[in-house]
Amino acid sequence: MSQMLKAVIFDLDGVITDTAEYHYLAWKALGEELDIPFTREFNEELKGISRMDSLEKILVLGGRENDFTLEEKKILADQKNVHYCRLIEDITPADILPGIKELITKLKADGLKLGLASVSKNAFTVMNRLELTSQFDTIVDAAKVLKGKPDPEIFLTAAKQLNVDPSNCVGIEDAAAGVDSIKGAGMLAVGVGNSETLAKADLIYPNTESISLSEIRNSFENK
Ligand code: BG6
Ligand code: MG
Repeated sequence: MSQMLKAVIFDLDGVITDTAEYHYLAWKALGEELDIPFTREFNEELKGISRMDSLEKILVLGGRENDFTLEEKKILADQKNVHYCRLIEDITPADILPGIKELITKLKADGLKLGLASVSKNAFTVMNRLELTSQFDTIVDAAKVLKGKPDPEIFLTAAKQLNVDPSNCVGIEDAAAGVDSIKGAGMLAVGVGNSETLAKADLIYPNTESISLSEIRNSFENK
């Protein structure tokens, strides 16, 4: 099997733009309302996880997993989403994280395909506000998959839609659940953020600005 890099599949929140921070702020506010305060360290466990799964994790943290009916949980999740949607209202292309635009330009110039794999139901809204939708060959969001990260389904679906074998893809993630999803799909995993949290990634960068396409190509050839 050829080990050529043919496609790059990006996570959205925390990789293309800093909406991971807005998810954190909105969950934190809800957590405090429910008397379940939590730290940034705990928040790492919420990154990459679907809305309802995130709520469940917060309720378990506070020992309140049996306190609400499904209907009530949906209301709580909606409340968080209304808050989150307010926070992303003013997003513009200026909110694309450093180095990402340049990376996209380089990837396209090199003839590589671009995919997005985000479990967020707000993915299209955010991508449209960043004016990036048309730059991507495929966008796979929560509506197109049955299982969220860490299941590999979302990255596998993106590769399939790009018509590229997973072994020729790289996935870029800021969440441990996302790195598990990429590795499960049989792709090279690039982590952006904390090296302990993202330890299972093949390459780890402290921030988006330091992502190096030539390094990614090198690890691909040595895979
Ligand atoms: C992921 C985020 O991209 O999307 C998670 O990392 C978030 O923090 C998840 O919970 C679902 O997002 P949304 O917009 O559907 O609530
Ligand atoms: Mg993310």
